[in-house]
Amino acid sequence: MNTETSIFDKIVKERRSVRIYDKSHNYDKSIVERSIERAILSPNSSNMQLWEFYRITNEESKSKIAYYCLDQLPAKTANELVVFVVRPDKYKQSIKFNLDLINSKDSFEKESRRKKRTLYYTKLMPLFYTFDFLFVLSLLKKTFVFFKGLKQPVVREVTSINKKVTIHKSVALAAQTFMLSVKAEGYDTCPLEGFDSKRVKKFLKLPRKAEINMIISVGKAADDGVWYPQKRFAYKDVVREI
Ligand SMILES: Cc1cc2nc3c(=O)[nH]c(=O)nc-3n(C[C@H](O)[C@H](O)[C@H](O)COP(=O)(O)O)c2cc1C
Repeated sequence: MNTETSIFDKIVKERRSVRIYDKSHNYDKSIVERSIERAILSPNSSNMQLWEFYRITNEESKSKIAYYCLDQLPAKTANELVVFVVRPDKYKQSIKFNLDLINSKDSFEKESRRKKRTLYYTKLMPLFYTFDFLFVLSLLKKTFVFFKGLKQPVVREVTSINKKVTIHKSVALAAQTFMLSVKAEGYDTCPLEGFDSKRVKKFLKLPRKAEINMIISVGKAADDGVWYPQKRFAYKDVVREI
């Protein structure tokens, strides 16, 4: 292993879900800002970046969110909680961001690709992300790809449910980058999906269409912070080489 690989290997192996944090540790909250900056660099579907990150740092808000996390210890003992939010409703803003990049004066886009990419963001993305009243559009799209798919390979995940999955995938990738970064900074995390999403959304004043992907608690692990040994299925049991 070269040096970079062994550093990465160590970070991956030392990241554990921590259930109790050391509250007496002199917590440096700047590591979270750097880690969110790195999370933002994560791959995400069509560079739409339909995500937001809410840092819960003050004691009162933290104890509220910890309560909504069913009083789980990783939330109650954390120095900070970061809520990873999915924002399908902000798709128009993301389309504009990408179109501005493609069509700006100093665009990196080759002329030959510019037209195709402009069409992608002006036609396909609105069709995928537009609000689907009573699933009528989803049904039409599903029927269209079914027939198109009889003759050629097509992307079949075109419904409004698929849209949510797409955004959640991207946000979960950002969450993993975040957790590895926090570990690299010498701190610990625990991803949480055990929470009351309705109450968390209300507390953060999020619109109806926003969703919570996960909440990640951050802090320095206490001596008894990791509860279980890390056990996984073996490589040979989950990998198929074709
Ligand atoms: C999407 C997701 C949700 C999770 N939710 C919780 C949770 O609500 N509470 C908790 O204590 N751990 C939670 N975990 C942590 C897992 O239990 C943990 O990752 C798993 O047991 C493997 O342990 P490790 O992370 O230390 O390798 C969650 C993990 C993921 C990825």
